[in-house]
Amino acid sequence: MKLPKIVGHRGAATHAPENTLAGLRQAAAFGAAWVEFDVMLSRDGVPLLHHDKSLARTTGDPRLVTETNFADLKTLDAGAWFDPRFAGERIPTFAEAIAVLAELGLGANVEIKPAPERESETAEAVVAELRKSWPATLPPPLLSSFEDSCIEVALTRAPELPRGHLYEAIPANWQDSVARLDCRSVHGREYLLDQEIVAQIRNAGYRVVTYTVNDPARAVLLDSWGVDTIITDDIPAITAALAKADAV
Ligand code: G3P
Ligand code: MG
Repeated sequence: MKLPKIVGHRGAATHAPENTLAGLRQAAAFGAAWVEFDVMLSRDGVPLLHHDKSLARTTGDPRLVTETNFADLKTLDAGAWFDPRFAGERIPTFAEAIAVLAELGLGANVEIKPAPERESETAEAVVAELRKSWPATLPPPLLSSFEDSCIEVALTRAPELPRGHLYEAIPANWQDSVARLDCRSVHGREYLLDQEIVAQIRNAGYRVVTYTVNDPARAVLLDSWGVDTIITDDIPAITAALAKADAV
């Protein structure tokens, strides 16, 4: 599995509204090879890009994504909160995002982000959409989740696609789930990583992915520990820092 050193978080979240098509375009414009984004289901089962359970922060609507039908979600403005320049930006469906990735030649780490009780259904919908529309021109997507049950569905339904296990702090028994679910990468929150755990994971033959690194000095340090991939909101800042340190 070839992963890039830098992956744009939720698109290019410092510079464009997160989890939108504008964000994917911004990441590509910055020269990113890959983006990460979150996929969850509308009430009526449409997979779409959104991070929070609630729509409040990104659209001003107080409802939950999982309680809102797709037709209603599509009327909401998901760009104006970030900057008036992005007014009119919509919450994209996963299918729309894949079409833009294909157009831009952008690879993706697809994070399966289920509402409680919808873990399997969300993972099933993600795999079904990938089967239908993931372009052969792009590298296979890396599927990741905090939820073992989501990764399990990915393993069963699309064993050929690489899987990553997300953690906040990486637990001492990380290898139990990672081996059982045949993951290729272990993803940990950047300020909870240390050099020892990075070495331990890499020595066991897995890739280390970390999120969300927006501090250039921290990115250079993590890279020096052997972290394979850095997920960042700020693609230009981290690209420049690693280039200066001769790391990319
Ligand atoms: O996939 C890395 C990162 O996105 C996980 O955390 O909360 O930003 O989705 P979160
Ligand atoms: Mg995410």
